[in-house]
Amino acid sequence: MNKCYIDGSIGQCGHSSRSADKAAASGTVMDLKKDFHMNSGAGDNSYARNSKIQGLIISKSQSERRKAAVAAYLGTGRPATMSVADLGCSSGPTALLAVEDIMVAVERACVELHGQPPEFNLLLNDLYGNDFNALFRSFPEFNSRRQGKGLCFVTGVPGTFYGRLFAAKSLHLVCSSSSLHWLSQMPEELQQKEGSPAACVNKGKVFISAGSPPCVAEAYRKQFHRDFTTFLRCRAEEIVRGGLMVLAFMSRKNREAALMEDRYIWGLLEDALNAMASEERIDSFDAPFYAPSMEELEEEIGGEGSFCIRSSDQFLVRWDDDNQYSGTGGEANVTARPVKHAVRMAKGVRAVAESMLRSHFGEGFGMDDLFCRYGGLLAQYYADSEAAVTNVVISLVRK
Ligand SMILES: C[S@@+](CC[C@H](N)C(=O)[O-])C[C@H]1O[C@@H](n2cnc3c(N)ncnc32)[C@H](O)[C@@H]1O
Repeated sequence: MNKCYIDGSIGQCGHSSRSADKAAASGTVMDLKKDFHMNSGAGDNSYARNSKIQGLIISKSQSERRKAAVAAYLGTGRPATMSVADLGCSSGPTALLAVEDIMVAVERACVELHGQPPEFNLLLNDLYGNDFNALFRSFPEFNSRRQGKGLCFVTGVPGTFYGRLFAAKSLHLVCSSSSLHWLSQMPEELQQKEGSPAACVNKGKVFISAGSPPCVAEAYRKQFHRDFTTFLRCRAEEIVRGGLMVLAFMSRKNREAALMEDRYIWGLLEDALNAMASEERIDSFDAPFYAPSMEELEEEIGGEGSFCIRSSDQFLVRWDDDNQYSGTGGEANVTARPVKHAVRMAKGVRAVAESMLRSHFGEGFGMDDLFCRYGGLLAQYYADSEAAVTNVVISLVRK
């Protein structure tokens, strides 16, 4: 039995069982467009209840987003209707934060300029499985917050941002937060497709791990290159000249992909999976996640050529940045802190990754057991490591 942490209390995990995934899917490669979504609803494991860190990322990137909003409004000739798209908006309390902030920034600038604020056309994008119903249900509250302000019109836009989503030259500003570190698929070069020689190079691993051969990091780098180039090309078609994009997502400080600081997030999940899932299911899963370095982003943006970088910054977000767990003081609190970070992190990762793990490891896979083990491993990790993740916020102008 392993120690595990659920809801901040210590419990016991179930028995290790490699047969737990016998209901796993038949070996077909999952389709993230259809299979990936944040946990819906408002229950204990929902994204709505476990997205505090994403809220912190939105607030830490607020100043860049506000500046970009005003620059886009002025740089596109003060349009009467400003079209703003949020890519990967999800649902829950963070879903409308960024677009709301953008409208406030533009409206304030208009007051200072003694001009009439624009009407807003808000385009909220996410993948097909997103809880758009919950998102739409949050509009009455959103509208009441905006009472007395200008008009805004909202549209939900389902689909992948690694493809065209909007009409040509129809957007003034694009924002995205905590979404672009998701790749369109597991790295192509690592996939074991039917009929292919299926050289499993990342045995027993689910990401770029300490023991992964160098070609694994290279496969991830190539997938990121293909995806990010596609993303930039599509947005270049859709954004008017002088329009902007402001993108915040997970990043790394180290130039080497193999030395990604945040790889422990997947490494510990890998340890938990290895105690429960079959080798075959683990070998055929590689997390579709990549946190690029600033240099890599600059190279990709320069190489694609449609945008220039207006500003960029990297920042750390700590799991306790909103002080939810501080204030009571004392020795006991210091020792309890890693457990609280771990519980929070395990729940956050579950809310985000459960759908894709279910799709790969099977409906019957023991998610409670997996995240119980994961919480235990995270608590050990946080006992002597910092609970922080690196993010980037970058603002780009359409040439
Ligand atoms: C961690 S959530 C962030 C949600 C919200 N922006 C926030 O800050 O709370 C990441 C979102 O990106 C979405 N996403 C991931 N890949 C996507 C893609 N290719 N196209 C559109 N949305 C995507 C996911 O479905 C998810 O809702």
